[in-house]
Amino acid sequence: MRSLISIADLTNDEIEEIFLLADAAQKLRAEQPARGQIMATLFYEPSTRTRFSFESAMQRLGGSVISCSDMRSSSAVKGETLADTAKVVSAYADVLAVRHNWDGAVQAMVEHADVPVINAGDGGHEHPSQTLCDLYTLRKEKGGLKGLTVVVCGDLKNGRTIHSLVFALARFGANVVTLAANGMELPQYVIERLEREYDYALAPVAADDLNAVVTETDALYLMPKQPHQLALFTQVDQVIQARLNTLASGLRYDAFYMTRKQKERMKEGTTEGSYPTIGPEFLRQQHFKDTVVMHPLPRVDELSPELDKDRRGIYFKQAAYGVPVRMALLKFLFDRRGAKPTSASPRSRAYESPEELGPQCRNLNCVTLKEPASARKRFEVLFAGEIGTLILACAYCDHRFKVEFIGHVASKRYCAYDQAFAETTRGWLQNHQLAIFDSIKAAEEMGYEPFKSGPQRALMNEAEIKNALSAMSEQILRECRDPDRLLILGVRSAGSQLAQRIALEIETRRGRKVELGEIEIYGSGDELRRVAPAEPDAAPLTLKNREVILVDDVVHTGRTVKSALSIIFRSGRPQSVRLAVLVDRGHREVPVKPNYVGKNIPSSDQDRVRVKLRGVEQEERDQVVIYSIMTPVASSHLSIGGDEKTAVP
Ligand code: CP
Repeated sequence: MRSLISIADLTNDEIEEIFLLADAAQKLRAEQPARGQIMATLFYEPSTRTRFSFESAMQRLGGSVISCSDMRSSSAVKGETLADTAKVVSAYADVLAVRHNWDGAVQAMVEHADVPVINAGDGGHEHPSQTLCDLYTLRKEKGGLKGLTVVVCGDLKNGRTIHSLVFALARFGANVVTLAANGMELPQYVIERLEREYDYALAPVAADDLNAVVTETDALYLMPKQPHQLALFTQVDQVIQARLNTLASGLRYDAFYMTRKQKERMKEGTTEGSYPTIGPEFLRQQHFKDTVVMHPLPRVDELSPELDKDRRGIYFKQAAYGVPVRMALLKFLFDRRGAKPTSASPRSRAYESPEELGPQCRNLNCVTLKEPASARKRFEVLFAGEIGTLILACAYCDHRFKVEFIGHVASKRYCAYDQAFAETTRGWLQNHQLAIFDSIKAAEEMGYEPFKSGPQRALMNEAEIKNALSAMSEQILRECRDPDRLLILGVRSAGSQLAQRIALEIETRRGRKVELGEIEIYGSGDELRRVAPAEPDAAPLTLKNREVILVDDVVHTGRTVKSALSIIFRSGRPQSVRLAVLVDRGHREVPVKPNYVGKNIPSSDQDRVRVKLRGVEQEERDQVVIYSIMTPVASSHLSIGGDEKTAVP
């Protein structure tokens, strides 16, 4: 039995097959292949196009539809779970089309349903049947998908149609220019998947011609890996800026895919602010004479009605294709009732924690948090890049986050994850011996004790750390062109703690507050967060034209800084980014040079340098320590070598 939850559930050949069926919609209408079949539409969120076009498609195929005009009049309000609803309605219908406001809710229903389930939009996650309509429209208008350049514009963070669409465009070899409204950039988990699974690279694009028609945005260009790479630098000078601006110049834009601001997914008080629009100016630009304008609709005020009469405004045609495309999709799924699920995405076996207090998805709108009774917490385990950072990707909402602590089930020992443990961790995963914890507290509550490590040597004590931070703060303030545009941005988590201390030092010297933010490399969608000022209704952090000081605890390979820079430049165009680190270990793999360094401590790959800060993970004082890394041994004896009295972390 096949369902459609993600666009990755269909191969490119299958998508082409659906398009051929859609081309023959009139024939399908005559053949009535769904005669005697029933579709249940379960829409927990409002819809016009998706719901009516699915219902129309089913009826045109000869089937019938059962529905609920408003799910608030279903037993959901009495507390019925998604799992039970899926099970029960499976007995009344042959296919379910479900829309829900939680990310991953439809995946949860598939696991309990006995009939095919179609994701008609789950929270801010995916909307794969809309993507089929979008691709079909593009293919009709442009003759194919390979090599097209599509500008996706607006709310790229919360727009589920965007997430499914960019994966599909990547699969078919199209280029994508992201033109996000401020604070609504494409989430890092989407970018990470594009890079990992589709070998896409990100490059800034000359935005001047785009800014002629949309304002308050910055553009980035996603394309199959070719010579263009994201440039790496810590300071934007004019030469580099000019080079960036020419990286992707001369593009021919085939389509603008506009989206509305998804206010229903935004926090109260954060829905206002500027938003790009496409208006009459667009129509007059010679550069866009063959650029079609698409929109999944509904529109609010981001598309001028003047476009309705223009041949390039094809969004009503796009909505009309909803019926033949969904007829084709239903026929495709009915024909595969006995088939095993397949996936175009190379997903590995899902990981489930062997311990009750296992890791939690960090996405607060994920079904695993909203209704744990319907969704077992499961993750794809990823080893990111050559350095082997351990990442969990939620099997329901796809959000990714970095693993902090690992444990060995049989010996009941835990330690902070380190890239040096990548091979050991893979082995434990294969042997079902890997426990993952979000905190030391969770590990210890499950009865785990720390692994032992080699002896530690203190490299900096509390007073030295204080002096180093003070000297760096003074230098930052001295070299800053305009302190009012200063933004101190700490890499989570130790870097973030240090950033707070630097900001405090600068405030004391200046007598005025300085803006403070936090950046999470494998975040759950909100990679950039304001830390201070901490007013609940403060606007999202703005990077444009800011003097950013990126703060981290230790720099070694430079890869963390590279990832942070990638997020920063994707989220806006700062005037400059300078790097402050407490410890520089040397031996860089990528060309990153810190501007402010607390202490240079050249050390080998076998050494681990750890910045321990008072009040963080039970530390009583600030210190920087060095120790040799030893792979934790998966045996029942406690020692892993060295001084057994000293525990890591
Ligand atoms: N495009 C789309 O999903 O529209 P509806 O919300 O009206 O279904």
